[in-house]
Amino acid sequence: MRATARAQPNIALIKYWGKRDRVNNLPAVGSISVTLADLYTEMCVSLDETLASDRLVVNELENAAMLPRISACLDNVVGRSRRHAQIDSRCNFPVAAGLASSASSFAATVVAASAASGSTSSTAELASLAGRSSGSAARSLYGGFVELRNTPGDVSVETILDGDQWPLKVIIAVTSEGPKPVSSGEAMEISRKTSPFYSSWLENQPDDLDVARAAIREQDFEKLAGVCEHNCLKMHSVMWASRPAIVYWNSATLNCMQTVRDLRSTGSAVFFTIDAGPQLKAICLESDEQRVREALSATTGVVDVLSSGLGDGARLLESA
Ligand code: DP6
Repeated sequence: MRATARAQPNIALIKYWGKRDRVNNLPAVGSISVTLADLYTEMCVSLDETLASDRLVVNELENAAMLPRISACLDNVVGRSRRHAQIDSRCNFPVAAGLASSASSFAATVVAASAASGSTSSTAELASLAGRSSGSAARSLYGGFVELRNTPGDVSVETILDGDQWPLKVIIAVTSEGPKPVSSGEAMEISRKTSPFYSSWLENQPDDLDVARAAIREQDFEKLAGVCEHNCLKMHSVMWASRPAIVYWNSATLNCMQTVRDLRSTGSAVFFTIDAGPQLKAICLESDEQRVREALSATTGVVDVLSSGLGDGARLLESA
């Protein structure tokens, strides 16, 4: 009744922003992401009849804040009449830094919980279950370049191209380590209800998905760079035009955007993307990794730089 799984965060290239069904947490749009290799979360789930309640420990510290979402995730995977669980989580990157730690946490949780309860769910089923806890988590069940599509009442997720077929690098410029002012789930609802750009965001997403999917299949970096930056800035425009405005960037985020533009204008193959937080993620060819890392490290306001290749989907490490 105990199992441990590992999952890596993913970074969206074509973003998920908005929900079509809040009860089942279904996204309003499809999305495309890359799964990272070098940052990971491990979740050990022990279902134990002697426990009076669930307990979550993250990097050796009790974490009451995330416990309700993890407990709800366990209910979805194991059933509501399950035994209580001890959940031990280990993350090799800063949890509160807005680096998609919830995606890797929920992806690892569904794999571990399913194994601990003795069920043999498919990866597709586990992706759906992870998505009910956090939309982006569904993508971390798969490796490489991953597409999430909307299907009636559900999502379907698949790898478009393995990471080793096009080994891009992701350089993360951390510009603030504080918690987000507003969660992405809440912010999406504010956008849906108030942003005048929300409906055109939904309308245009299929075109961006088509261009990005083709660029990935053709390994056309320029094409991918163009559509991804455009899609990211559109998502943030939807947020900025919401009431109240949702602005996740800080001045260092803008400095990093300028650094990436300067690098590109001097010949580097690099583009940026930014999620619901102030960190900037630069995606580049392997040959440009060192230059991008150095330039972002030297950018005013950057407090840390992490880098990663592309990796596999969530996997079970052990079960007993
Ligand atoms: C900006 O997956 O965190 O990172 O489903 O409410 O948990 P919930 O949202 P979440 O949203 C991710 C939003 C994003 C874009 C993306 O990852 O596609």
